Amino acid sequence: MKILMVCLGNICRSPLAEALLKEKLPSGFLVESRGTSSLHEGQGADKRMIETAREREVDLTGHRAKGLSKSDITEFDFIFCMDESNLRNTLSLTKSKEEQSKIKLLREDGENVPDPYFGGKKGFIEVFELLNQELDQTAQFLLDLK
Ligand code: 4NP
Repeated sequence: MKILMVCLGNICRSPLAEALLKEKLPSGFLVESRGTSSLHEGQGADKRMIETAREREVDLTGHRAKGLSKSDITEFDFIFCMDESNLRNTLSLTKSKEEQSKIKLLREDGENVPDPYFGGKKGFIEVFELLNQELDQTAQFLLDLK
């Protein structure tokens, strides 16, 4: 099963969500991430996100940012968006109800994963803790489908 994590820049939230979900799922699941914007295409993850993850034993140094394309929507089985803006932009690339049904807001309570980019270190730590908790539920949801 192929799972995609989506945020805006693919340098803060979704690379971390990708790394954490990989840790929580057995092999047989392929997990990748994308940004709805290609502004940071080819760049590594944000240094602040790399540091926050490293302090918690998660390695993001191999990540390279990639923009979301229409072919990703065909290819992946589930696409989880970090916030409502990412959700709208991802849905705008779909061409059928079937494609739309693969796309979800990550948080089960319908809230956004806040964008830490313009804030300080505290925001990055909060995103790490929030994603680490939420993705336990995401992993369970995916395992229950098998
Ligand atoms: P991300 O964070 O969507 O979690 O990767 C951001 C990265 C870059 C920008 C905004 C948010 N930016 O405006 O460049």
